[in-house]
Amino acid sequence: MNILVVGGAGYIGSHIVKQLTDSNHNVIVLDNLQTGHAEAVTKPATFIKGNVKDKSLLRKIFTETSFDVVFHFAANSSVEESMKDPLLYFDNNVSGLIALLEIMNEFAVKTIIFSSTAAVYGDTPEEVITEDTVTIPKNPYGESKRMMEQIIQWCHTAYNINYVVLRYFNVAGADLAGIIGEDHRPETHLIPIVLQVPLEKREFITIFGNDYDTKDGTTVRDYVHVVDLATAHLLAMDYLLEGKESTIFNIGSSTGFSTLEIINKVEEYTGKKIPIRYGSRREGDPHSLIASSKKIEAVLGWKPHYTDLDAIIDSAWKWHINHPDGYENDC
Ligand code: UFG
Repeated sequence: MNILVVGGAGYIGSHIVKQLTDSNHNVIVLDNLQTGHAEAVTKPATFIKGNVKDKSLLRKIFTETSFDVVFHFAANSSVEESMKDPLLYFDNNVSGLIALLEIMNEFAVKTIIFSSTAAVYGDTPEEVITEDTVTIPKNPYGESKRMMEQIIQWCHTAYNINYVVLRYFNVAGADLAGIIGEDHRPETHLIPIVLQVPLEKREFITIFGNDYDTKDGTTVRDYVHVVDLATAHLLAMDYLLEGKESTIFNIGSSTGFSTLEIINKVEEYTGKKIPIRYGSRREGDPHSLIASSKKIEAVLGWKPHYTDLDAIIDSAWKWHINHPDGYENDC
């Protein structure tokens, strides 16, 4: 199959590219390397450096290859940054998707797998979130993704573009072969930040708020292994290509861990003390996000293999210890 992966040089996209190439698909990656790394694109995928908003480049790419499926990962994804610079999020995320859909429609490419987020839900009183939970994003990042989902749904109605929207909860870990992993600059995600202490790159962790209405006062998140997440994308692709109905799935592990529990787990795993300080709440943070993954399990038969935190921490640790400065040849 010919597959275009937009944003395939980023942390999550690169893990999907690897599974697609391991399954012998012909993969073309388009990425502007704003946050991605060319080195993260595993061979034999073809890498093209460019912006998804560049419609003449998209036309050239779509003219050269007749695509069966498009995967979209090209988005800014930091909650904190989006609170400070919402226009960046609406511009890059939303207008990038519009350009892509326009060209897909022009070339009659009718299948898209879209990377969305639990951030579309915002603060919800529901302990476990289903796909029917109301979406009231608490930050511009989540809002941009909700808008993108809606744009895709209208394109389905108007142009018959079929979609699967995957709403990820907190993705962590690294591919088990150890050649790709997480490398954000600067890093803002909890697990890689906590690992920086035993890696001697950081002296302590600041916990953003300990007065939330949760089990220990710190925020609660549902962590899913990036390899399990990648598997879900391949299942979603097969599902759409079988002509099944366009839809939305949550992807999580259905278990919530508090920020404090993550720190304790990393201490236990590495045997190193992780000093903590309590800081104020980070703007835009929901108190708790836990997925119900019942729908994706029932419809796609997806089941996470790496359900405990140790497996996530173990793969992330191996990646960081073997790549202390992340990818070497680019930034
Ligand atoms: N946290 C700290 N200290 C840190 C870093 C993080 O206390 O130094 C806390 C955050 O406040 C948050 C939790 O750890 O409550 C997890 O933070 P991350 O930055 O790792 O992840 P987020 O939950 O903010 O966001 C991530 C992705 C989003 C996605 C969301 C879905 O970055 O793209 O998960 O749940 F939308």
